[in-house]
Amino acid sequence: MDSTNILVSINASKKIAILTLNRPKELNALSYDFLNEIFQALDLLDKNEGVNCIILTGSDRAFAAGADIKALAQQSPLGIWKMDMYGLWQNLKQIKKPLIAAVSGFALGGGCELAMICDMIIAAENAQFGQPEIKLGIMPGAGGTQRLPRLVGKLKAMELVLTGTFISATEAYRIGMVNKVVPNEMLIFEAEKTATLIASQSTTAVQMAKESILKSFDMGLNEGLAFERRNYMMCFDTEEQKEKMNAFLEK
Ligand code: CAA
Repeated sequence: MDSTNILVSINASKKIAILTLNRPKELNALSYDFLNEIFQALDLLDKNEGVNCIILTGSDRAFAAGADIKALAQQSPLGIWKMDMYGLWQNLKQIKKPLIAAVSGFALGGGCELAMICDMIIAAENAQFGQPEIKLGIMPGAGGTQRLPRLVGKLKAMELVLTGTFISATEAYRIGMVNKVVPNEMLIFEAEKTATLIASQSTTAVQMAKESILKSFDMGLNEGLAFERRNYMMCFDTEEQKEKMNAFLEK
């Protein structure tokens, strides 16, 4: 699915897809309609059996500069509730295939939250991350106060959310917010390399593992271990498990 705001390219032999956010004039600001388009495109890729791993990226200048402030400025609590934008964020959480955010330029507010909802983040050297909502008299509303402390701990999360300051890709890497930092021109190449490696594994095992890791944030240890065991057993119902284990035994 291509729209002017979203470009999708699929590499059939590698079984990976790149979804590029393309609202450059607004630095990929996330209006309701744009976020909905992103979700619809991701949902289609999630159901596409020719795709095993998805890269989400923006432009050199911006991954996404946050929620669309023009659309938010006149909002009321009831208006926001009726719009149910946050239902869309919940939907994003349901994507089964691994999502890699390839971040260049600004990843701010909702843009930073969008990167954090992905399963891995690869940052270009020019990336800047931040939760500047506090400077607009609001606070993060799409997971920033929940996912950020889980990644970087309470102190750094407090600093980023309460001061609204931006941090560089190197600092984001240092505090555990991104997987790696690469030169700008290598961003897509590096993201594709990781995506290709993931996409070449057993689809079921990858999706079961992703689901289990995400559950670890919602469950206590015993409940999480039971969930992991269930998903682990499901892997034994796949051809790949049989093929790969036999191949190992046969050298
Ligand atoms: N919403 C709407 N438009 C935005 C935008 C946003 N979040 N961010 C940038 N833009 C628009 C600007 O209005 C500008 O449009 P015009 O050319 O029509 O004036 C264009 O993008 C380019 O922006 P700047 O001229 O400001 O570019 P800059 O290089 O000087 O600054 C920036 C870039 C630092 C990203 C700055 O634009 C900025 O601070 N943006 C807002 C970032 C922000 O506060 N994000 C949080 C939003 S709230 C949120 O996300 C809530 C939530 O948790 C879901």
